[in-house]
Amino acid sequence: MNEYDSARLAAILELNGASPAFKPEKADIILVNTCSVRAKAEESAIARIWDLKKLKTENKGLKIGVLGCMAKNRGESLLKDLPFLDFILPPDEYQKLPEILFQKTEPAPQTPFAKLTNKYSAFIAIQSGCNMRCAYCIVPYVRGREQYREPSSILKEIESATVAGVSEIVLLGQTVNGYRYKGLSFAELLKQVASIKGVERIRFVSPHPIHYTSELLALLMSEKKIAPHVHLPAQSGSNSVLKKMKRQYTREAYLSIAEALRSFNPLYGITTDIICGYPGETEEEFKETLSLLQEARFDGAFMFAYSPREGTPSASEKELITEEEKKSRLQRVIDLQHSITLERAKLMLGRQERILLEKLSRRNSSEWIGKTGNFKKVIIPAQPSFKEGMYVDCVIEGLKGHTLQARTSTFNFGCTI
Ligand code: 5AD
Ligand code: SF4
Repeated sequence: MNEYDSARLAAILELNGASPAFKPEKADIILVNTCSVRAKAEESAIARIWDLKKLKTENKGLKIGVLGCMAKNRGESLLKDLPFLDFILPPDEYQKLPEILFQKTEPAPQTPFAKLTNKYSAFIAIQSGCNMRCAYCIVPYVRGREQYREPSSILKEIESATVAGVSEIVLLGQTVNGYRYKGLSFAELLKQVASIKGVERIRFVSPHPIHYTSELLALLMSEKKIAPHVHLPAQSGSNSVLKKMKRQYTREAYLSIAEALRSFNPLYGITTDIICGYPGETEEEFKETLSLLQEARFDGAFMFAYSPREGTPSASEKELITEEEKKSRLQRVIDLQHSITLERAKLMLGRQERILLEKLSRRNSSEWIGKTGNFKKVIIPAQPSFKEGMYVDCVIEGLKGHTLQARTSTFNFGCTI
């Protein structure tokens, strides 16, 4: 979501005559887009912002602004803590940017579409805010109530991205599959996106388990353009913890979605988010998270130690787990998940896959990096015809860590030898 917002901000700057500086030392304007979801994200943003201070001695005209959730969460106190900042701007006030930076008082005729950050894939926000109020989460406080974007504007942005060569569309929202607009459901929107010429692969992040309707599941199984991968945050495998977290689903309901997807396609990619050490989480409850990993067999996971966020209901819970215990639980989920990720990757060996080429490998310029439909990273030896955004048929023939190694399939060229 922040990447999308940054691309939108870049489009606003360009519309007002600015151009990319490529290096902070060359910039006249630096906007730092921030995240508040965990304390660590805020701390590292603050460290990065302090690093920028020295640039002001070399360029007296330099303007530094802090945007994003931390601007909302910490508000004016940021200006006191970081006195060299020129301004802060929370996410619901980005329309003020031209006025702040370019003294424009007239609002822009329309907000420009996000600037494309690459040639193959475009993030398209369809929903902002979140109504869920999970007990640990700061997002509803900093991003506000859910707002759904008009379908015609979404489809227009996608069409313009495909004209620019994009073929993979990633729909974004905090609870993206809860999207609705005047009777139009998320599944119906997906169908319309799939019918756009030039759209080859569709992904969406992050869905919420409670919005997996039978209509959506049926579409995921019938619409070939929707990639067979979902990032579906589970957070915990324990029903009692899920209840305290106010997640509004049970472990069984979560697993039934995973089971439906995997019985349709055993290689369906399912990744997740897990929080360890939620206030009051017992060893038994934590073991249920470990057993959820065993049962769901996730292809990958983002795993976090619980981080109390001021103002959220769980931040005032007393039964805190020690930092040491949180770290140890986190390490246990990481170790288990790594072995499952490896096992899931091995299932890909020998398979014929269509990958989307993303970029030349930074480590080895004779290799390209791409992604399978089920969201696995693939490394493939470069060929002169390879270009960013190209689809290549290949055979998965090895593994380096969790990364798949492939070779171009002869089917690519209709070769009969
Ligand atoms: N502590 C730890 N992890 C958190 N997340 C959200 N809030 C917290 C918190 N207070 C994690 C959740 C969410 C992901 C984006 O960040 O797993 O899905
Ligand atoms: Fe936070 Fe829950 Fe909303 Fe996700 S669904 S953004 S975890 S409140």
